[in-house]
Amino acid sequence: MLKRLVQGAVYLGLLASSVLGFGYTTSGNSIVVTTDGGLTFTVDKTSGDITSMVFNGIETQDSSKRSQIASGIGATCTPTQTGNSNNYVKITCVAGSLTQYYVAKYKDPAIHMATYITAEPSVGELRFISRLKKSAVSSGYAVSEIAGGTAIEGSDVFKVGSATRSKFYSSKQFIDDQVHGASGNGVGVYMVIPGNGYEASSGGPFFRDINNQGGEIDLYSVIVIQNSGHTQTESNRMGLHGPYALWFTSGSAPSTFGESLIDLNTSFWEGLSVTGLVPQSQRGRVTGKASGIASSFSNYQTIGFSNSAAQYWVRTDSSGAFTSPYMKPGTYTMTLYKVELAVASQSVTVSAGGTATSNIASTESNPSSIWQIGDFDGTPRGFLNADKIETMHPSDSRMSSWGPATFTVGNSVSSFPMALFKAVGAVKINFSLTSSQIGARTLQIATTLAFAGGRPSVVVNNWNGPAPAAPSQPDSRGVTRGTWRGNNIMYTVSIPSGTLVAGSNSITINVISGSSGDMYLSPNFVFDALRLY
Ligand SMILES: *[C@@H]1O[C@H](CO)[C@@H](O)[C@H](O)[C@H]1NC(C)=O
Ligand SMILES: *[C@@H]1O[C@H](CO)[C@@H](O)[C@H](O)[C@H]1NC(C)=O
Repeated sequence: MLKRLVQGAVYLGLLASSVLGFGYTTSGNSIVVTTDGGLTFTVDKTSGDITSMVFNGIETQDSSKRSQIASGIGATCTPTQTGNSNNYVKITCVAGSLTQYYVAKYKDPAIHMATYITAEPSVGELRFISRLKKSAVSSGYAVSEIAGGTAIEGSDVFKVGSATRSKFYSSKQFIDDQVHGASGNGVGVYMVIPGNGYEASSGGPFFRDINNQGGEIDLYSVIVIQNSGHTQTESNRMGLHGPYALWFTSGSAPSTFGESLIDLNTSFWEGLSVTGLVPQSQRGRVTGKASGIASSFSNYQTIGFSNSAAQYWVRTDSSGAFTSPYMKPGTYTMTLYKVELAVASQSVTVSAGGTATSNIASTESNPSSIWQIGDFDGTPRGFLNADKIETMHPSDSRMSSWGPATFTVGNSVSSFPMALFKAVGAVKINFSLTSSQIGARTLQIATTLAFAGGRPSVVVNNWNGPAPAAPSQPDSRGVTRGTWRGNNIMYTVSIPSGTLVAGSNSITINVISGSSGDMYLSPNFVFDALRLY
């Protein structure tokens, strides 16, 4: 009897240290996974869709639409219980050029995921959409809650009461987008993108894309965008996207994973035979120091790395020092950003297990100016409506009037419009010069994005400036769906001697384009800064 009890205890102990309650069962087309962390989820093995996600007894999955990669991939799925003490369930869903991995880790209230592609999905974006039951997961981003609204632009910008709303307004720049989600009574659902989770995405550190939409009916989406055509400045990257995770809590956002949020430890993936995964031991780093950026920007310096296979970034410390994430081996273009403006670029090669040293110095020219409006930092921050544009449509009644505007040099730049729309009209800049400031001068107009070929053409007093060629910018709406992040383009105008006069002068900036459009969809561009020197 005693022996039997002892044996029983040993047996139970063994079970507890492996996977008591943890594992999967199959029933018809359903693979039902119990994480033993409060979450049970179901994957349809004939499609790869998630059909149920029950956390602490609360069903969070919408019943009419499924959670899925792309818009559903029609995959065939195979489950295995694997890894250390069988502490992992891996479901591999294969559909042609796309493989979606769902992984449960013993005790994690999470669906760990990674997505391997050799071609862009036909839906044109690679994204995971969690379609959550709105009665259970009721609050996401207020700026993206469109229930009861009327579409005012495309099928994605709405007016709800007097406020404009859009799924695009939930976006965060990749460099700051480690967790986003939605919650309800007793439950929170969060997409977690750890350190290198965006390495196979596109657009760089300051790219923003949809995180959330509160829908008309029973629909709540928490989305990780991996590749999309939303004001995208780069080509899509193939290979393994992620790992990322859908994490369940009793409400608030997960703030730690035993370590820090950003460092959700994904190294267990290395033991799971995942196509395209490059283990840390096969990666390398870059360390160095950035220099040459004015001290007022010392806390806003970022180093980006990119090649056709991967992208990475790291913020420097205030002295300019940085150490990159663990990167795939290869040769990268390394870029120094002053806020969002590229001010230096060079090549660096990363080898497996190595740490390369690569210092980088700003090559930005800083001519001494007669006047300057705004900061040359690759953003319109500080200008009129720039504080609102990321979460409101330009037509929103909470916006200040766009113009036509007259700006007198010396006034607060918060009255200078962040964007110029052809249908709104020109901005006129008034300024005085002394007799020693006249003669041949240079005007620079820096822009961050344009739509429908919009670019600046100037009239200086009575002199008509040149008509620049159409800019190379993403072929996509931009500022009307809450972003200024395109290609930073500088226009330089040589003002001939005899144009500027001692006393009052004016420069009128118009939008020119061969295209047309209504109001805020008329050709437009976003200002970064201007200077006369
Ligand atoms: C991450 O997890 C692995 C086991 O999967 C462990 O060996 C490693 O120490 C962990 N790293 C950190 C930083 O905790
Ligand atoms: C600004 O423009 C107005 C009208 O064009 C003009 O009367 C005024 O003198 C200008 N002010 C300056 C400071 O140049």
